[in-house]
Amino acid sequence: MKKIVVSAPGKLMLLGEHAVVYNHSCIVTAVGQRMFVTLELLPEPTFELEASDVEVAGYKKRFASLGEGDIPKGARFVEMAVKNFTKRYPLKGGVRITTKSEFSSLFGFGSSSASTVCVIKGLAELTNTNLSSKEIFELAYKTVLDVQGKGSGFDVAAAIYGRTLYFVTGGKVIEPIALDELPLVVGYTGVKADTVSLINAVAEKAFRHPKRIEVIYTQIGDMVDEAHAALKERNWPLVSELMDFDQGMLESLGVSSQRLAGMIHAARDAGAWGAKLSGAGGGDCMIALVSREKKQAVSEAITKVGGQVIDVATNVEGVRIEL
Ligand code: PMV
Repeated sequence: MKKIVVSAPGKLMLLGEHAVVYNHSCIVTAVGQRMFVTLELLPEPTFELEASDVEVAGYKKRFASLGEGDIPKGARFVEMAVKNFTKRYPLKGGVRITTKSEFSSLFGFGSSSASTVCVIKGLAELTNTNLSSKEIFELAYKTVLDVQGKGSGFDVAAAIYGRTLYFVTGGKVIEPIALDELPLVVGYTGVKADTVSLINAVAEKAFRHPKRIEVIYTQIGDMVDEAHAALKERNWPLVSELMDFDQGMLESLGVSSQRLAGMIHAARDAGAWGAKLSGAGGGDCMIALVSREKKQAVSEAITKVGGQVIDVATNVEGVRIEL
């Protein structure tokens, strides 16, 4: 039977998290550690999944019951992606899918959205369905919303388009930013963040303080737009200053943590141009923009306060067929 391997990159948010859920912009970069998905067409209408990174082994069900019953956490995005694709483009038989990630699903690099994108791209390829990047985005973003109810879709866009993107909620704008480098140091807190509960906590705050939160979102959106222009000119000190302001806003939203703040301050004290949390907050990763001369010192400072520096390329290629 026909078989294919598809890969998509993980992502890191540079600026704009949380506000981007509510009709503002953000900037995201695709990272060099990738998700690999193997898809094989089956003669019978069954769905099979092996995803050892998220503890799914020998998972199997009939196509007719896709999306129904008790679905293991590690299978939800892939199963829903298959369901959404085949609802629109019916398959004759079934599909066996195996996922393997180069990065830990704990980092917050977006393993769920990367695997969702790989599944849709792979099914399109296997069935000779001609899908544009925008059509892949629509199907993958719908899948993410079906599973987790909330989200801007920035992670889906990063997995599809790769590179560094200026992005507005729901893919209203997806614009690559021409960059040849992005001098980032990435530090992992060792704590897994729960994106949906952090979005909910911020929503609850917005319910109690609507005006204040709206001001914060507007500020964040403005900073993203200014950083967008500064990035095009490779004005790293200005981008960094805006990142520091953004971190202050995220502190106000209540999504930073002692561990994140410790690593961020250690990076700044060691000479980073700027530093902030990346993603929903609460844990996952922080990022620092750093000159070549200061990279070593900043990395050591992050490690010294208990962070784990992750050596990762940024601004990399989006989803692609491997085999
Ligand atoms: O937790 P992450 O890394 O998926 O980042 C979430 C960023 C949010 O803005 C809070 C949510 C979103 O979908 O944009």
